[in-house]
Amino acid sequence: MPLPVAGDGLWQEGEARAFRRLTLAWMGTMMFLFSTMLLLGYFMRLFQANAFRTMRPEWFYAVLTLHGLGMVATWFVGGMAATGYLLTRYSRPSIWISRLALAGTLVGAGLLAAATLFGLFGTGWYFLYPLPFYSSGVWPPWATGCFFGALALLFSVWTIWVLDLLRAIASRFPLRQALGWHVLSGRPSLGVPSFVLVATVSLIAGAAGLAAGMVLLGLWAVEWLRSGYSNDALLMKNLTFFFGHIITNITMYLGVGVVYELLPGYAGRPWKLSKALAWAWNTVLLLVVLAYAHHLYMDFAQPRVLQDTGQIVSYFLSVPAAVVSIFGGLALVYAAPMRWTLASWLFFLGLMGWAIGGVGAVIDSTVALNSRFHNTLWVPAHFHTYYLMGVVLMLLGFAHHLAVDLTGEPERPAMRHAILALLAIGGYGFLLAFYWAGAHSVPRRFAAYPRELSQGVAAARVAVVFIALIVIAVALYLWETARRCWRAFSA
Ligand code: HEM
Repeated sequence: MPLPVAGDGLWQEGEARAFRRLTLAWMGTMMFLFSTMLLLGYFMRLFQANAFRTMRPEWFYAVLTLHGLGMVATWFVGGMAATGYLLTRYSRPSIWISRLALAGTLVGAGLLAAATLFGLFGTGWYFLYPLPFYSSGVWPPWATGCFFGALALLFSVWTIWVLDLLRAIASRFPLRQALGWHVLSGRPSLGVPSFVLVATVSLIAGAAGLAAGMVLLGLWAVEWLRSGYSNDALLMKNLTFFFGHIITNITMYLGVGVVYELLPGYAGRPWKLSKALAWAWNTVLLLVVLAYAHHLYMDFAQPRVLQDTGQIVSYFLSVPAAVVSIFGGLALVYAAPMRWTLASWLFFLGLMGWAIGGVGAVIDSTVALNSRFHNTLWVPAHFHTYYLMGVVLMLLGFAHHLAVDLTGEPERPAMRHAILALLAIGGYGFLLAFYWAGAHSVPRRFAAYPRELSQGVAAARVAVVFIALIVIAVALYLWETARRCWRAFSA
């Protein structure tokens, strides 16, 4: 039965319908933003393949900024919307706060597009201090203002949304139960779903990341308003990466939580809250806030202990969440009466993509290897793996699950096979070109490679062929899913 279930004591019919329509609006927004950002990614790889020789390189950097932030924002809000929807099974997230977040996200995305596409604001997605203030005439001051205005709006509405989902969880489960501490002390699960544990961990960490983001914006504002004042560059970098690392990691965790909740329905078996699961996700909560230190290996002014922490914590972080989820996922589907649909395949492939990208990330977080791979294309290679072939697949799976659930329209097997094959071949082909170039020392964030880096151009030319397959796969997916979502929305 589609969520929220009307008449179950939590929801009335009108409210349930409003929440479904809101979630469909979120999924529509997610699919629209994803398609747009995907085309911008295609543009960048074409640029690196020398397809636009006469175009100013500033365009590449403006698009890089919009694509990076746009993608991170898209999957964060997609994960939040899916989590909010699934939480309606157990509690009452606020419809109005989710609507506020939707409006804020749309306005924020518009402001980001204006700053980058009209103002050519091109600092990259993490706007590293003090670059936004030193445009060398490339972007005007209004673009900087527009960019920070967008971030202030986005961070504000997202913080309210995160706190509301935590409130909704707390109204049904005491915190120690939501975090599975009762299971750790040997008691039964008391009906706490494993999805709630993952959501609680993600939201608590998300609140910490967004708080750091707000402090960061405050410091930027002080420097802007008080002439002669400048911030401490190392503090700004720590805050930026603390925020950026957490927001990208919890987006993945939100996707994984969705899989914990929905994959069992296809496997015909529960994914229970076990001691191993509770142990793993509590460890994640402890470590995810420390692992950001691996972004600062090249900051030699930083105390050595932080660099060591970055490496050790990155190793320990990958083991509990990924290993427990991946083995748990494999055990769930092994010899199960599995119902393989587009959604369940996307969930399963998403878990596997997360694992593969995780290996690339652990390699990069090893200091001895990072000194070779730092700021090469290896970096976008690994994070595109666990994003594009990980959380993106999980959340596309969620949108499709929702669309089929609400319309009852069965899916066409031929379409399913075509979408999955094109996504897998296109996705891993595109990623391999990034990994290969990274292993051959091609630096990241280069609009046009000089002659000495001709291997970068060759890799980009291979990549554009595979990206074309992804574009076709996404077009087919939209035909199957967005159409159903629209039908359910207007019904
Ligand atoms: C097929 C889909 C995609 C394509 C073709 C694509 C392409 C690209 C390219 C060419 C770059 C620049 C790499 C460089 O030279 O440094 C890039 C950067 C980036 N992409 Fe994607 N991408 C895709 C999907 C995604 C997804 C799903 C995400 C999700 C978060 C994402 C997030 C980012 C980020 C954060 C950056 C770094 C921006 C920066 O350095 O400031 N991309 N992408």
